[in-house]
Amino acid sequence: MPADFDTIVNLAKKRGFVFQSSEIYGGLRSAYDYGPLGTALLRNVKDQWWRSMVQMRDDIVGIDSAVLQSPEVWVASGHVASFSDPLVECRNCHNRHRLDKLDDPDVCPSCGKRDEFTEPKLFNLMFKTHMGPVETDDNAVYLRPETAQGIFINFENVRRTARMTLPFGIAQIGKSFRNEITPGQFVFRTREFEQMEMEFFCRPDDADEWFTYWLEERKNWYLGLGMTPDNLRLRPHGKDELSHYSANTSDVEYRFPWGWDELEGIANRTDFDLKAHADRSGKDLTYFDQPNNDRFFPYVIEPAAGATRTTFAFLIDAYDEETVNDETRVVMRLDPRLAPVQVAVLPLSKKAELIEVSASLANELRKTFAVEHDITQAIGRRYRRQDEIGTPYCVTVDFDSLDDHQVTVRDRDSMTQDRISIDQVEAYLRERLR
Ligand code: GAP
Repeated sequence: MPADFDTIVNLAKKRGFVFQSSEIYGGLRSAYDYGPLGTALLRNVKDQWWRSMVQMRDDIVGIDSAVLQSPEVWVASGHVASFSDPLVECRNCHNRHRLDKLDDPDVCPSCGKRDEFTEPKLFNLMFKTHMGPVETDDNAVYLRPETAQGIFINFENVRRTARMTLPFGIAQIGKSFRNEITPGQFVFRTREFEQMEMEFFCRPDDADEWFTYWLEERKNWYLGLGMTPDNLRLRPHGKDELSHYSANTSDVEYRFPWGWDELEGIANRTDFDLKAHADRSGKDLTYFDQPNNDRFFPYVIEPAAGATRTTFAFLIDAYDEETVNDETRVVMRLDPRLAPVQVAVLPLSKKAELIEVSASLANELRKTFAVEHDITQAIGRRYRRQDEIGTPYCVTVDFDSLDDHQVTVRDRDSMTQDRISIDQVEAYLRERLR
């Protein structure tokens, strides 16, 4: 059964996936902290992205650029001039809204008054701060609104030092910041979030082919990690939707509880960024293609995904409810590579002789898997908790284990149980959690 929005948000809070930022001070709107399980899930999503985009390929390398960059970067990229949303203010309640997101452009959704909006004003979404002790216009800097520009400004550094030849990509995962006017839907749209972006540089005449390639590649990444095919689609942008830098964009969209919405944008950014940075910095960012003996600005295909948003989508997609023995069982059917806990080791009771065996087994398994040694509560409740957090395998140590040196391994999805010799457990799990 698919999850509704409130159910997932409540589960995320109850089990410690996500907390409201600054909760003890009443909460900071639109910022979230990831708890132990959420941190592990988010990290697993990022690791899987890195594995598929960098580790498994010899044509893509990774970087980690600074959040704070020269303000010139954002002038060249066009963010200072055009990274803005049209904003209207209600004269009655003084709330501000994005004009393009209003259901009725004449009615204030906060107070319901009609025809009270001011003329729209453009509002830049970049967070501005100051570098150093004096706050003047000369030392204003921005928190990066995307990780992509850190890649473009390092194009030549990376090409030269990593000895890359076209076609090649540079990948980066990191925090981005946008002063969104209408944050919302939990961690879907926040003012601080994480992105997973890759800029793939190629010959201009090969750009269309690589664009098609990356659409398929990226869609298959989500499917390969178990996302329900009916909940995923590619949606090409109309001409009026394209960003200022893009010749062609398609979004990977997920069917969220409120409808289809963006997980990732895949864009043909042409040579817009390299040219813009070359113009503004005065540095030569062209590429000399030895085999063809020509020099040009490479084109760029950019798959740009949100790590936090994708993590949320995997949570929603994994949620399932079924009836077992007249009771509702909630189970997160997360791919084992994403599951925050892969193996839970559970002694049947808190008796010291059982805990001695279970603790030693947990410590052994920890070397290979993400393990939780859970000794609290009745065994049924512990199974329920592990199902709810998506743990693929529970290993139970009971009194028979003390004599026969075997344990029961329970499969999350089928709930079947196998009796396995303790010294075989690691191999058994390794085969299934590969
Ligand atoms: N470099 C291109 C770029 O940043 P984008 O479509 O604005 O493109 C890419 O952002 C991805 O980053 C989005 O598809 C989304 O997953 C994520 N993202 C963007 N704004 C976000 C926000 N306010 N909160 C959470 N994720 C966001």
